[in-house]
Amino acid sequence: MEWTREKRYLPYNEWDADTLMHLQSQASRSNYQMRYHLRPISGLVNDPNGFSYYNSEYHVFYQSYPFGAVHGLKSWVHFKSQDLVHWERQGLAIEPSFKGDSHGAYSGSAKQIGDKLFIMYTGNHRSEDWIRTPYQISAWMNKDGVVSDKEILFKNPSHITEHFRDPQIIEKDGTYYAILGAQDEQNKKGHVDIWKSQNLKDWEEIGFLNFTDEDMGYMIECPNLVQVDDKWVLIFCPQGLNKSVANYQNIYPNMYVIADDIDFENAKMINPSKLKNLDEGFDVYATQAFNAPDGKAYEISWVGLPDITYPTDDENWANCLSQVKELSIKDGKLIQKPVKSIESIRKTESKLTDKLIKNTTSGQYELKLTIAKNQSTTLHLAANKDLSDSLILNIDTNDGKLVLDRSKGKKVAVDYGETRSCEIDSNESVDLDIFVDHSLIEIFVNDGEHVLTGRFFTNPENQKISFDKDTDFTGKFWEMETIF
Ligand code: FRU
Repeated sequence: MEWTREKRYLPYNEWDADTLMHLQSQASRSNYQMRYHLRPISGLVNDPNGFSYYNSEYHVFYQSYPFGAVHGLKSWVHFKSQDLVHWERQGLAIEPSFKGDSHGAYSGSAKQIGDKLFIMYTGNHRSEDWIRTPYQISAWMNKDGVVSDKEILFKNPSHITEHFRDPQIIEKDGTYYAILGAQDEQNKKGHVDIWKSQNLKDWEEIGFLNFTDEDMGYMIECPNLVQVDDKWVLIFCPQGLNKSVANYQNIYPNMYVIADDIDFENAKMINPSKLKNLDEGFDVYATQAFNAPDGKAYEISWVGLPDITYPTDDENWANCLSQVKELSIKDGKLIQKPVKSIESIRKTESKLTDKLIKNTTSGQYELKLTIAKNQSTTLHLAANKDLSDSLILNIDTNDGKLVLDRSKGKKVAVDYGETRSCEIDSNESVDLDIFVDHSLIEIFVNDGEHVLTGRFFTNPENQKISFDKDTDFTGKFWEMETIF
């Protein structure tokens, strides 16, 4: 089928129910489908949205195009959870319904205000001659999960181009602030733009956030501010960033800076660090973080990238979300750990001793390993019998290096390289907490000092986990329950 513009933007009610059911069954039957991560019911998933705590539950939404593996008319699909692991699907929450979001309910955020969940997002509007206006919109969700009262708040001011989106709502000292990704009209460069309001209706621009002296490329998407320990962390996605500013391999990186404080009124981060990659793997983007009422900082990411195709496009579905991670800071670095409650979906524990670690019976498991020092070894995951088809992890505790290699199996984004690496301490043992969910891997190194996330597409029948040589290690293994 050819994805014409007309087709991509066809209103949802003009698609027939049989087509949708067929797409849903295709997505749920796929051997590459995730079973304990948020995944598409059908079609394409991208950014997490509205990650929040409301009415004594956690909420997250994702960007969805339900009719195929393309970026078409976007809506928000809602999930809620008591523990950030067991998510219940609530269904479509925001779909294009008025001029403000006629060509897509794009990304945004949410925050409990009074007894409702206040939602702020970007409505993508296009005129008949396809000129885009980005409207920043508010809406309110009640305890029954019904979203109503959509209202346009503001659009791009004249010094900002049509690239103006993804508002994050924050409250500080009784004032509301919205943080948006923007491109300036004059130089066509990426910025984080700050707005403020006292009543959530009348908004005024403060200006571009000063957090670096470097050129941030041509656009910044999905900026997020979160308080971690006693610091402020800005998480954002610069597009067109020069690699001399901060090195990265993915088409667009997801980066962060840590600052001592933030002065909202003067749009300034105090003593910001250099840019760092949030994830050292292949596919993390559009991460959203928020401070829960208990003071903890949590994040969740899109596992997928803009302008990249994936092998499951052939099955008409694409992408998923990461597991939720808890944030802290150690020695000026962001630490990202699995939430404690992920342990609740572990099945029976097995201890591992042999070189052949395991023949799994399902592709969804957690593998915790400590590799002793002075080892230079290769771990094959999702491997066939002779280890010729596998996801490869090279572990060198002599020189201090990990390399994740997805060159086997179906090809993904090969123009951006088939390996990702991360430095670890040389002459030290290393702890790896590895989560595999069919075609998704998340590797937490040394208790969250590094995370490498990626999709991989080896033969789904491959069930073997094995080192290629005798390795000095200890380990534990659990299959994981199915959530979806
Ligand atoms: C990032 C992004 C956002 C936008 C959304 C649309 O992946 O491009 O900037 O709001 O996706 O789906």
